[in-house]
Amino acid sequence: MLKGLLDLHNLLRWLILILLVVNIIKNFADAKKPFVKIHKKLGLWLMICAHLTLVVGLVVLGIDLSSLADRSTIMANSALRFKFVEHPVAMLIAIVLITIGKGVAKKDLSDMKKHRKSALLYLIALIIILAMVPWSTSSLVPGM
Ligand code: HEM
Ligand code: HEM
Repeated sequence: MLKGLLDLHNLLRWLILILLVVNIIKNFADAKKPFVKIHKKLGLWLMICAHLTLVVGLVVLGIDLSSLADRSTIMANSALRFKFVEHPVAMLIAIVLITIGKGVAKKDLSDMKKHRKSALLYLIALIIILAMVPWSTSSLVPGM
């Protein structure tokens, strides 16, 4: 089960990265146009993928933690610290930014501000995610 969940988590990374880039480009490109259904839909898909990744990540984290013999070594070992602390905390921050970015659509703001605010929040989330994905230890193709 862990392998399947990790593959799903791995696959969702690509969906999130693609949706972040598409959302950022669309919001920047349409900055002077009305904030309409397509912008809300793109934000919604991003949000669904981000929250699914969070849930799957939490389950993987729980399974991994319960099978770890000695938890007291986590902070002293850089690989374990990355896996159990740095990656989850940084990604949680990125997902919170995505959630706030999506929520901007519901705020009482001008359409231009909605585009700019969501694009900026998504951009910061993208940078955090790019920096904190375990690129060197994960397969680029889920399941391989
Ligand atoms: C640990 C589990 C989860 C937490 C803590 C969580 C938390 C949140 C929060 C705080 C919001 C923002 C509410 C608002 O301000 O409007 C939200 C919205 C949302 N969540 Fe989650 N969520 C979780 C799991 C999921 C899952 C599994 C999905 C779908 C696969 C999901 C899909 C959504 C969607 C689509 C919205 C946006 C609704 C909208 O704005 O129209 N969430 N969630
Ligand atoms: C945008 C959010 C996230 C992205 C893009 C992401 C991406 C990834 C990737 C690509 C992997 C490697 C998968 C593999 O080896 O096949 C991974 C592993 C992992 N992620 Fe995430 N992740 C995110 C959020 C989270 C969150 C919120 C948590 C925990 C709450 C989490 C917990 C984990 C854990 C425990 C592993 C397993 C590491 C291992 O077994 O080596 N992730 N993540």
